[in-house]
Amino acid sequence: MVVVLDFGGQYNQLIARRIRDLGVYSELLPYNTSMEKLKELNPKGIVFSGGPASVYGENSPIVDTAVYDLGIPILGICYGMQLMAHQLKGKVERAHKREYGKAIVNFNENSQLVQGLEQLQQVWMSHSDLVLDPPAGFMIDASTEHAPVAAMSHPEKQFFAVQFHPEVRHSVYGNDMIRNFLFEVCGCEGQWSMETFIEDAIREIQERVGDRKVLCALSGGVDSSVVAILIHKAIGDQLTCMFIDHGLLRKGEADSVMETFSGKFDMNVVKIDARERFMSKLAGVSDPEQKRKIIGNEFIYVFDEESVQIGEFDFLAQGTLYTDIVESGTDTAQTIKSHHNVGGLPEDMRFELIEPLNALFKDEVRKVGEECGLPAEIVWRQPFPGPGLAIRVLGEVTEEKLEIVRESDAILREEIAKAGLDREVWQYFTALPNMKSVGVMGDARTYSYTVGIRAVTSIDGMTADWARIPWEVLEKISNRIVNEVDNVNRIVYDITSKPPATIEWE
Ligand code: XMP
Repeated sequence: MVVVLDFGGQYNQLIARRIRDLGVYSELLPYNTSMEKLKELNPKGIVFSGGPASVYGENSPIVDTAVYDLGIPILGICYGMQLMAHQLKGKVERAHKREYGKAIVNFNENSQLVQGLEQLQQVWMSHSDLVLDPPAGFMIDASTEHAPVAAMSHPEKQFFAVQFHPEVRHSVYGNDMIRNFLFEVCGCEGQWSMETFIEDAIREIQERVGDRKVLCALSGGVDSSVVAILIHKAIGDQLTCMFIDHGLLRKGEADSVMETFSGKFDMNVVKIDARERFMSKLAGVSDPEQKRKIIGNEFIYVFDEESVQIGEFDFLAQGTLYTDIVESGTDTAQTIKSHHNVGGLPEDMRFELIEPLNALFKDEVRKVGEECGLPAEIVWRQPFPGPGLAIRVLGEVTEEKLEIVRESDAILREEIAKAGLDREVWQYFTALPNMKSVGVMGDARTYSYTVGIRAVTSIDGMTADWARIPWEVLEKISNRIVNEVDNVNRIVYDITSKPPATIEWE
């Protein structure tokens, strides 16, 4: 295993991800992870991630300097390099201007990180501070026009550091450098795969749960379905799934979830009809964050109450992914949106949480699902947010507005599937901005709602681009929605990427 210490920045999980893709298990841990924990994990290597801070900042994240005495190879990236240089008494210059974008670095031929690679290579820079002099015992491995020390290493201690970001694709040999660090420096073997992940996860669940009971929050989406299957593989009938119909699901979804899990997979699934309860809690609430929190809390309360009816449970299993955690804010990453299975948890919860997917990205979860034998329609089901259609009805949620979103979404899904685009487009749905506009239908003036279509391509939901759906398909969708859904007279197509927008509208 290789540990990535997280010093902030939205894309740090990508480093762990690249390492896993190279067949080495990796996790992103907070920068202040204790030395005891690190020793216990006994990683073959440690990576210091980048981050937005300056080593001269007042509350900048720093690592316990005992990390340099563990005898474990370290790779510092960007802020990670500056921190290493600063803590080991090199010279770091506080810059007032950011260097951002592509740069050409020139490596020494004997630098271990670039063995077998071109010495002159394009990298991606995004930093402000700069290392001017490496600490004692370090050699300068590379420089650029603006950075006298773009990479440095201490061959004896096996410390390496680069000013640029090898984890992003614009660094042409970035992945190869990470590979060199893992295999040449740390001596990793590259045997890890999703199969190993599944075996480990099952074993961990069995050890943790013993003969106790687990309740799983099943939504029918790929995340919670994979969690349910994994836990079912581990502990069989000690697992009960509770499927809450909060009234914010897509058309036909509740029935299909029951058919699949209770029918096909023969799992214990209890369906709770909580539609009225959620609607009454949401009445009059229009703030997006408040809506998310209310739904998250209500979920847990419903579980709490209903689980008492079906028996005693010690654990609550959830399909939380890494993206949910990072976007809800970690110690170092800023909060963008509080995802409902993270931020909404009430403090007085009586369950212990099991979240076996919380280090994975969506595409990795799909691989786990496939390995576990889940049918393609579930594995490839597009992501659907926990708060459901409530965050696609902007502002206050009413039955009338939900109906518009539900019906228009069903048409959109049908047409996207008919056009054979359902795998190509990563996520697609309709949203109801809280606005009406004037139209004309059959010679009469109308004053009705506008429906927004959102369709994006993405790998992991962290970034996304708007999907170039053919105009004929958009035209058909637009015509059908206006004709078949009451109270709608205008359709707009969202052509913003993420960032700056997010995928959902709330
Ligand atoms: P955003 O809108 O943040 O969405 O760009 C990224 C991905 O996450 C989904 N999403 C959620 N999933 N609970 C979830 O389980 C949530 O609260 C939540 N909010 C957004 C969204 O649908 C997209 O796939």
